[in-house]
Amino acid sequence: MFGRTFSLLWALLASAALPALAAEPGLQVTFTSQGQSDTRVDRLLALYVPAQQCPTPFLAAGPFTAKWEGNIESPVRGTFNFSVETNGKFKLTLNGKVLLTDTEAKTAELNQGANTLTAELTSAAQGDTFIRLNWSSKNFPLEPVPPMVFSHATNPGLEKAQAQRFGRLLFAQYNCAACHADATKIPRTGGLPELNPGAPLLADLGKKYRPEFLAEWIDNPAAIRPHTLMPKLFSGPDAAQKAADLAAMLTQGATPAQGTKDLSQAAAGGALFANLGCIACHETPDATTRDRIPLAHIQDKYHGQVEPLMAYLQNPAATYAQTRMPNFRLSETEARQLAHYLLARGRMVKRTALVGDATRGATLLATSGCLNCHAGMPPTTQPPLSKILQNPARGCLAEEPAARGTAPDFHFAAAQRQALLSFLATDLNSLQQDTPAEFAERQIQNLQCTACHARDGKISRWAQLDNECKKLRDAVPAKEHQEGDPVPDAPIPALTWQGEKLKTAWMTSFIAGEVAYKPRTWLIGRMPGFAHATAANLASGLAHQHGFSTVEPAEPEPNLEKAKIGETLVGNDGGFNCIACHGLGDRPPTAVFEAPAINFVQTIERVRKGYFQRWVLAPVRIDPETKMPKYADPEGVTAITDQLEGKGPDQFEAIREYLRTIK
Ligand code: HEC
Ligand code: HEC
Ligand code: HEC
Ligand code: HEC
Ligand code: HEC
Repeated sequence: MFGRTFSLLWALLASAALPALAAEPGLQVTFTSQGQSDTRVDRLLALYVPAQQCPTPFLAAGPFTAKWEGNIESPVRGTFNFSVETNGKFKLTLNGKVLLTDTEAKTAELNQGANTLTAELTSAAQGDTFIRLNWSSKNFPLEPVPPMVFSHATNPGLEKAQAQRFGRLLFAQYNCAACHADATKIPRTGGLPELNPGAPLLADLGKKYRPEFLAEWIDNPAAIRPHTLMPKLFSGPDAAQKAADLAAMLTQGATPAQGTKDLSQAAAGGALFANLGCIACHETPDATTRDRIPLAHIQDKYHGQVEPLMAYLQNPAATYAQTRMPNFRLSETEARQLAHYLLARGRMVKRTALVGDATRGATLLATSGCLNCHAGMPPTTQPPLSKILQNPARGCLAEEPAARGTAPDFHFAAAQRQALLSFLATDLNSLQQDTPAEFAERQIQNLQCTACHARDGKISRWAQLDNECKKLRDAVPAKEHQEGDPVPDAPIPALTWQGEKLKTAWMTSFIAGEVAYKPRTWLIGRMPGFAHATAANLASGLAHQHGFSTVEPAEPEPNLEKAKIGETLVGNDGGFNCIACHGLGDRPPTAVFEAPAINFVQTIERVRKGYFQRWVLAPVRIDPETKMPKYADPEGVTAITDQLEGKGPDQFEAIREYLRTIK
């Protein structure tokens, strides 16, 4: 299968086994606006830049040019037809020859392996600018050139631009501005969305957490969670005592009695931990490795108490709006089982704790900078931004602990420190603006979407943990499988084409956890919910990455004549029998055992029109593993010749018109 070849090639390119190629995925793209340039890597040769919006956060809004450079890695030698959809001025050069200068399709021979590509775009004279590069061949119909075939070689200019981008994100996420403020350079609202990240509310901690644990956390957060955003604020011989004082203050008035764990529920919780995908982001609580986010300390942190842990699992954002832990809409039973699993398998630390003094703790809380992050209090004693820009490699960014002085320790790796220095050397104007396309890319990484989703030919982390999952599932007695019971190991949709597939409004609600129904009822796993504002910006950004507007053009009322034909075509009497697998409203699929599929009533509000056509014409081009049959040959002709002259695209259009009429 073609898709498999791509994935294989992709795996080879991505593996360190072939350093000679030194090729990275995606294309390098250089934007120029008002005499300034900026470079980044894009997954696709596609863009959507709304009028009045900057093409990248490092450039001013207004007319711009874009230049893509890199390779198309072709799995075979062959002939391909290229075409472009754009409202700008475009030129495509392949293997040194100019191929496209307008929207007319042209044929090109590609060599097996790398083919050099350069493309240039001048933004549209007015309004939004968009571009999408497509191809087709005798083996497959027109489609966007997929991200899996693009590669580029890295170079110092690109590396510098990437470091600045990374540093810009770190500056926001680690809340540098909480202590090093500057009202003119750092916007409180608008601008880079990750600015002002906040921190958990420090209220009622005594009801939930064990003071000894909190002292250990405050003394050195990174020792408990390697990728924490909270710095170590105290150094020197009295650091542990200060932490104990703060813990005493924060838990004053209540300390939890040790809870009781119910071992009989732990195994069911363990199975959920595997089946819901917790395992894709987290180590199991009995693990000693810390590659994924550790949970071994949970028993200790919660002092073995079930109720507060359940409350957290059911609403992780309750005391921390910007948490990266998503909301799984867990039922009471699920939350209880998961809580018992985490409490039963984790460690409880026996320590000789320092005795904390709550009064000293209260003073420390007000003077140590805790509240700059935790309560948004303006900084008082820390140097302002202008000051740290003069000495950027010191204090919080010092390489040696001795040179850090009284500054917090963020536990930065060398690459993070370098990135922050790179960013601080810019004019910082990029904090004032952002683009959804770059936001989406950053957040897919930050929120670990690829823990559960395959993307651009790379399998998900979850899919690499089959052995660990199996152990957890096998610990509960097997139930006999009933027809219609959800299963743990059915495929999860890849993220690769979602920007082209889903309507932005629906995708926003879905990522935000606001869609009441579950499209794939046959999965035990479910898509967890993330904050609404993040979801909206992410969904818009994915559309833009694929060259689409966030709004689909309005459609006229359904064509009832076509819809009538469509109704016949979905059925098994003179049609394709789509309803064998697809339910139609409250009519269940007629042959569920074939391959479960999404109910057709959801399709119209979910799926964009163009993608509907592309999917039904050649499903394996999008998902090489799909069980959905292909109904049209490469010319688009189907086996049903007595309707609409056997023309696949017209027939599928009729089906879509029919689906638009059903409720
Ligand atoms: C909790 C408050 C806090 C936060 C958050 C914070 N800093 Fe600092 N920073 C300090 C303090 C305190 C100092 C030391 C001031 C001194 O030694 O007088 C400092 C010093 C510095 C210095 C050295 C300035 C000099 O003149 O020597 C730099 C550079 C710096 N910080 C960068 C950063 C960056 C970048 C971030 C975000 C990753 C950050 N800081 C986050 C409190 C903070
Ligand atoms: C630079 C910002 C920043 C500063 C300064 C900071 N924190 Fe935090 N803190 C965080 C973030 C962010 C979290 C959430 C954990 C994470 O993201 O890793 C957190 C988590 C915590 C938690 C755990 C809360 C929970 O419900 O799990 C406690 C307790 C805490 N901080 C106390 C303190 C204290 C006390 C200080 C001052 C000594 C302090 N923090 C300083 C950012 C900060
Ligand atoms: C997409 C990644 C992701 C998934 C999936 C996920 N988590 Fe988390 N979880 C996080 C992150 C990140 C944190 C760190 C807290 C933060 O950023 O606020 C966290 C925090 C937690 C904590 C609190 C840790 C502490 O130190 O207090 C618990 C408990 C937890 N997760 C349990 C679960 C369970 C149970 C599931 C499955 C139902 C799950 N998580 C699924 C990302 C994830
Ligand atoms: C814990 C695993 C998990 C994580 C983490 C996760 N997803 Fe999902 N996602 C799923 C599952 C399972 C589905 C299928 C749900 C269904 O159809 O019932 C899904 C479905 C989707 C869909 C709908 C696709 C379609 O064709 O219907 C989109 C879009 C999506 N996820 C985006 C994201 C984004 C963006 C992130 C990161 C912010 C993310 N997901 C993180 C598990 C996850
Ligand atoms: C053998 C079973 C089967 C048959 C028959 C079938 N499909 Fe599918 N269809 C699937 C599967 C499997 C998926 C992908 C489900 C997923 O994304 O997890 C799918 C997905 C779709 C989607 C995307 C839906 C969405 O909301 O994501 C559309 C549209 C679609 N099919 C249309 C059709 C049409 C039109 C026909 C008949 C011409 C048809 N299908 C026949 C199995 C089938």
